[in-house]
Amino acid sequence: MPRLTIQPSGKTTEVAPDTVLLAAIQAAGENLVSKCGGNASCGACHVFVHEGRKSLSKTQRAEHEKLDALVGVGSKSRLACQARMGEEDVTVELLSFV
Ligand code: FES
Repeated sequence: MPRLTIQPSGKTTEVAPDTVLLAAIQAAGENLVSKCGGNASCGACHVFVHEGRKSLSKTQRAEHEKLDALVGVGSKSRLACQARMGEEDVTVELLSFV
């Protein structure tokens, strides 16, 4: 199973493919808040994906639109509530400024 590494804590966990990233991060014990119930509308689950980005599910329109409206978004940005694990290891960085 692919491994998810969460920075800055350095926690790692094995995650089944197709698992929503937000659920996997929360299951690992991280306090990543979802204010919108995972509907790509609050932006609170914004993370940077440092490794394994291409293995995640593709960014859909609602996620693109929300990311466009957020401050501090970069090429590594994803909404954890919209991204699903693929077959490869992934490293994400949780942000504190949202
Ligand atoms: S939980 Fe609200 S945008 Fe992801």
